[in-house]
Amino acid sequence: KTPAPVPTTYVKAGHLFDATSDKLRDNVVLVIDGERISKIAPAAEVTIPADAKVLDLSSAWVLPGLIDCHTHLEARSDKYDPINEVKQTPFTNGFNGVVNAAKTLQAGFTSVRDVGSSPFFAVDLRRYIDEGFIPGPRVVASGPALSITGGHGDMNGFAPAVSNMLYPAEKDFAIVDSPDEIRHAIRAQVKYGVDVIKILATGGVLSQGDKPGAEQFTYEEMKTAVETAHATGRKVAAHAHGTQGIKDAVRAGVDSIEHGSLIDAEGIQLMKQHGTYLVADIYNDDYILGKAVEFGLPQENVDKEKMVGRLQRENFQKAVEAGVKIAFGTDAGVYPHGDNAKQFHYMVKFGMTPAGAIRAATQSAADLIDRSKDIGTLESGKYADLIAVTANPLDKVEVLEHVGFVMKGGKVYKDELSPAK
Ligand code: ARG
Repeated sequence: KTPAPVPTTYVKAGHLFDATSDKLRDNVVLVIDGERISKIAPAAEVTIPADAKVLDLSSAWVLPGLIDCHTHLEARSDKYDPINEVKQTPFTNGFNGVVNAAKTLQAGFTSVRDVGSSPFFAVDLRRYIDEGFIPGPRVVASGPALSITGGHGDMNGFAPAVSNMLYPAEKDFAIVDSPDEIRHAIRAQVKYGVDVIKILATGGVLSQGDKPGAEQFTYEEMKTAVETAHATGRKVAAHAHGTQGIKDAVRAGVDSIEHGSLIDAEGIQLMKQHGTYLVADIYNDDYILGKAVEFGLPQENVDKEKMVGRLQRENFQKAVEAGVKIAFGTDAGVYPHGDNAKQFHYMVKFGMTPAGAIRAATQSAADLIDRSKDIGTLESGKYADLIAVTANPLDKVEVLEHVGFVMKGGKVYKDELSPAK
């Protein structure tokens, strides 16, 4: 039997940022066979057959599909009353996920790492997207974030009977207070298909009754989390705002620090030594102190945000200047999904070059999520995950807030740019 021929598409790129360096190349053609890129070459060297499928992006800037390493696709950002949790069913999160996945992909984010959702929302969503049933980005899925009792991931501020009733599943998979319980929860999450483990090393901003600066897991607990996760081939992402929690998480061997708000000079040096990625959600502050307040964010959370927001941006800049590895992650779900690219402005304002910020959202992000073989740069052999914009993002990174063309795995999901077909 002869296998069905793989459809070939030729993409003419006026300007290409392939994310393997900080440079642009002009007038190239990407040859796409099925899901993957088979060749990238100067236009003059490629003969395009007369009847071939051609996408003409010769007046656009073409880049790899963007990657957000910190999303919560089950969450919406127009309700902040914790009492909402009491009213919703698991279906609510499912509806949110379908809508948010589509918005994310339309915004040019062809992959995300989803770090914290109810069990096992992100695993299910990943499966449905991979099956082609739901349009969305490739998903690297976590389960619920591991939290200490009363910590950032627990349901605080309710009567015991209420929180027990609300979170029975989380009790099995997420609320853990010793190395043994951590081992169990990670093994159980892996059993249900997660790709990555999220731990809550310190308190948080948008939780009740805890402090962002305070360490929550001990060093020993975090070390157990890392050993257990790594033994199964999963990486560990550690939510950590607080100075000491960041250092203990890094020493324990986590693969990324999420937020990193109150990091100090020693923490920065430790991250460099260990090669730990920083994933800092430095757009968030605008939204939390703006819209979220209008939507009824409790005063406790507003106060906590005021404590960390500005410091996080300043400390991000120090980490960038010291050469800490940076991967793009925004905490989408706190602000509306689809606005992910608004963070590029702040990454450039606080110390990165546009090329550096884009590579944090492509090449480095793919490295952090362990998908460098398939995504993150535009090279032959990789998935044809690419986007295009109408101005040079190296001059004005904000143009990435208006992505006009999205292809994922060779399939076009948005095309406002190539001339009438
Ligand atoms: N999920 C995080 C938390 O609740 C959001 C922090 C947002 N604030 C910020 N400045 N990045 O802790």
